[in-house]
Order: sequence, then C-alpha cells, then structure tokens
Amino acid sequence: LPAPGTVEFKNVTFGYPGAEAPVLSDISFTAKPGQTTAIIGSTGAGKTTLLNLIPRLYDATEGEILIGGLPLRELGRETISQNISSVPQRPYLFSGTIASNLRFGAQEAEEEDLWEALRIAQADGFVAEREGQLESKISQGGTNVSGGQRQRLCIARALAAKPKTYLFDDSFSALDVSTDAKLRAALVEPTKDAAVIIVAQRVSTITEADQILVLDHGEIVARGTHEELLESSETYQEIVTS
Ligand code: CTP
Ligand code: MG
Repeated sequence: LPAPGTVEFKNVTFGYPGAEAPVLSDISFTAKPGQTTAIIGSTGAGKTTLLNLIPRLYDATEGEILIGGLPLRELGRETISQNISSVPQRPYLFSGTIASNLRFGAQEAEEEDLWEALRIAQADGFVAEREGQLESKISQGGTNVSGGQRQRLCIARALAAKPKTYLFDDSFSALDVSTDAKLRAALVEPTKDAAVIIVAQRVSTITEADQILVLDHGEIVARGTHEELLESSETYQEIVTS
C-alpha cells in the first residue's frame, strides 16, 4: 500500500446535486507524504470543491479517491477526521476558549503542544497578549478576532491534531507577505512527513511546491513545478503575471 496520508484521485468527476454540468471533470493526481501539492486556478475553477471531496463533505460522482491506498468511501468518519486536517477557506471558530478551539481535533493536547502549534502558525504573539491567553473567550464564529488571526488559529488547530494529510484552502492570503513567508517556513518541519495540499491565490505561496496542478473550469489543464509550468502553461503564465 502507498504510505498513510497519500491522497490519490483517479478519474474523479463531481457535480453538485441537482446541477447539470459537473464542477470537476476527470481529475487524477497523487499527493504524497513529504510533498506539497499546490492547486491554483481562477475563482470558480473548482479548487474548494476538490478539497472538500477529501474529508467527504461530498462524494465523487464518478471515479475514486484513495487515502493511503484505501478507498475513501470505506473509511469511517473517525478515521478520516483523525488523519486529515482541513483549514477551510472561511475558517470557523466555535464559541469557547482559544484552548477548546485548538483542541477540536486533539482533545489530549497539553498546553505546551497548543503553544507550539500557535508558534508555528505565527499566532502565539496575539494569544499571549490577550487577557486569559489560552483561556480567553472566542465568541460564536470568532467575531472577536480579526480575519487573519482567525485563519492562523485554524492553522494552529490543524497542526495540534498532527494529521497525516493537511488541506489548506487559501489559508495564507489574508496574511501579509512577510507573515505568509514566516509561517510557511515554520510549517516545513512539522509537516515534513505529511501530505500537504495547498490551494493558493498568490503564486509566491507555492513556487516551492513539489507539484502544482493548474485547475481551469474543473479540469487539470497543466501540472508540474513552478519552473516547468512557466515554460509549458499559458494559463499558468497568465496567473503569474496577473
Ligand atoms: N458551486 C456550487 N455549489 C456549491 C459550491 C460551489 O454550485 N455549494 C459551484 C460554484 O458556483 C462554481 C464551482 O462550483 O461554479 C466551483 O466552486 P469552488 O470549488 O468554490 O471554486 P474555487 O475554485 O474554490 O473558487 P474561489 O477561488 O473563488 O474560492
Ligand atoms: Mg475556493
């Protein structure tokens, strides 16, 4: 079997229930542990939809998704949530404390582990400044922290769970360029044995990715490294220069 955490899409097609045209057509790729797979493409291309198939928010209409070589449909909810952490495009915090939000996928985590996750996510500074720190209250939906802070807390939550597969949906775009760079540098070590899939808007976020998939109208129109795509893909060149 492929290593745990490996995500394989085999000719996956998906349409939203009731919709006529599929949103994703014939998607095939493998995201391996120890590698970063980046997905880039214009708004509405299907990037979020593709990521959402992995924790089974929806099931593929055709084709198959395998996790560590096992069909996703045969994995239980618990196995999926224990192995895959997802930072959604609109990150969500629950009413409760910062600690309870961070322990969502890691009930056993010690305070020390939570601080470590916060440090990596570049979120330790503002948490340390809040009254009560880890015990400070988050209001429903996380409305009492900024969008960028919410995003970093959700990244810390994903890290605290120590999954085999990470899904980041546009998780770095609300950050300024310097915080984005620091965060991604800090992520290298803790995610080095995991499969990391990143949806990005900014090309600078993904130039180091092991493979980049260029998605256009639900299809992978090009794939390769940044350098390869600069040579081979007009769509990618347009994204880079836009
Ligand atoms: N869509 C839909 N029903 C949903 C979500 C999305 O019909 N519940 C449609 C959208 O209207 C769009 C397509 O599916 O035509 C792909 O949407 P999405 O995967 O969200 O696109 P992204 O590439 O993630 O777009 P963005 O960069 O804006 O996040
Ligand atoms: Mg999206």
